[in-house]
Amino acid sequence: MIGRLNHVAIAVPDLDAAAATYRGALGATVSDVQDEPDHGVRVVFVELPNTKIELLEPMGEGSPIQAFLDKNPSGGMHHVCYEVDDILAARDRLKQEGARIIGNGEPKIGAHGKPVLFLHPKDFNGTLVELEQA
Ligand code: CO
Repeated sequence: MIGRLNHVAIAVPDLDAAAATYRGALGATVSDVQDEPDHGVRVVFVELPNTKIELLEPMGEGSPIQAFLDKNPSGGMHHVCYEVDDILAARDRLKQEGARIIGNGEPKIGAHGKPVLFLHPKDFNGTLVELEQA
């Protein structure tokens, strides 16, 4: 059911510093900063030949990544995103398999303007999984 790896997301305490590290030391192509107030994050996309890395910094009160950064002050891998053809079919199959969908189970529009869902890390070996309809 899952297809390509769309991106790996890394939570960072300082987005400008992290973007500079990827541009400088790692020599990567990094997008401009994008504010995503609906998701409580500021984000840049690191473009790699085969996938993307998203660097996420908390934005506003109650950001969903603030607790993660409190536990991992220097940052860390936050989630992986797999592409699916049909997000509602994927959700229904996962529910049948006993996986927990985070939130109310309805897809939200993600950072790339496409519908996304998040799956509970306890059901996937401690990794938060995002599904994006490609
Ligand atoms: Co993501």
